[in-house]
Amino acid sequence: MQLGTLTLQNPICLAAAPWQLEGTGYERLGAIFTRTVTMEPRPGLYEEGIWQVNEQTLLNATNMRTESAEILVQEHLPHLLSHGVPVFVSITAPGIPGFRKIARFLAREFGSQIAGVEVYIAQPDTEKGAELNAKFVRDATQAVRNELGSEAAIIVKLPPWPEHIRGLALGAQEGGATALAATNLLKALHLPDDATAAPVAGGISGEALRPVALRCVWELSHDSRITLPIFGTGGVFTQAHVTDFLRCGASAVQVASGEWLEPGLSARLAAECGHLVPANM
Ligand SMILES: Cc1cc2nc3c(=O)[nH]c(=O)nc-3n(C[C@H](O)[C@H](O)[C@H](O)COP(=O)(O)O)c2cc1C
Repeated sequence: MQLGTLTLQNPICLAAAPWQLEGTGYERLGAIFTRTVTMEPRPGLYEEGIWQVNEQTLLNATNMRTESAEILVQEHLPHLLSHGVPVFVSITAPGIPGFRKIARFLAREFGSQIAGVEVYIAQPDTEKGAELNAKFVRDATQAVRNELGSEAAIIVKLPPWPEHIRGLALGAQEGGATALAATNLLKALHLPDDATAAPVAGGISGEALRPVALRCVWELSHDSRITLPIFGTGGVFTQAHVTDFLRCGASAVQVASGEWLEPGLSARLAAECGHLVPANM
């Protein structure tokens, strides 16, 4: 996959990488995407907020903790960079000034050490009644682009909304994105077996997300206005899943749940799938 001047050596990438990524084989990956950081840490749940809904489907509770960009710099990034593949820092913010601030911080602290950033597009500041729309995506992307400069690779990760994803993607493209990732988590509710336990609101990933993510990738790749390369993200566990995403128009895939459920899976897939090429090449 080509991201501006950067060529990914393998179509398999690791998304939401654990901060302590232990083991071997990760040097074969196309890229590593970090867990999302915010400018200020956001208190919340750690691993206990991740529920296994069924064998290959997870739910991340809504109130998960987010580390600060500063902790990323001080504690986590050197370790992730030691695997020797491009590292993209995933960032989010509740509004445009927040995206500008965190992008400025990363540009200042890292210069050329990181390959670029992934912009996690989530609902903007809902307290003010704002809705996620193409303009927000464009402005967030543009704010990050202005801080990182014209050369940086900026991947915009979109929500799993097949009906709306084309418009959001066009916003990202207008704002100066280098590539798209489809998709992030799908809002859902999990009812624990214990009937007295409260329902858990969150976002699902893994097996249950895959058909929706495939549809999103397909929507994007079949819109002649959208020219950006696409990462397919959702429920990749096997080489056949990788091939499915490539058939639908993705140029590479990201693996998150698979790695969480089976540490080392992304490295093993990278060893198996290095030869695969996207259908559109
Ligand atoms: C344990 C876990 C943590 C995640 N944390 C993040 C995150 O910090 N930032 C992000 O953009 N996506 C995060 N995601 C979403 C994934 O990056 C990915 O978009 C989504 O899970 C779909 O891929 P999958 O089915 O392979 O998990 C997380 C997913 C999981 C399972």
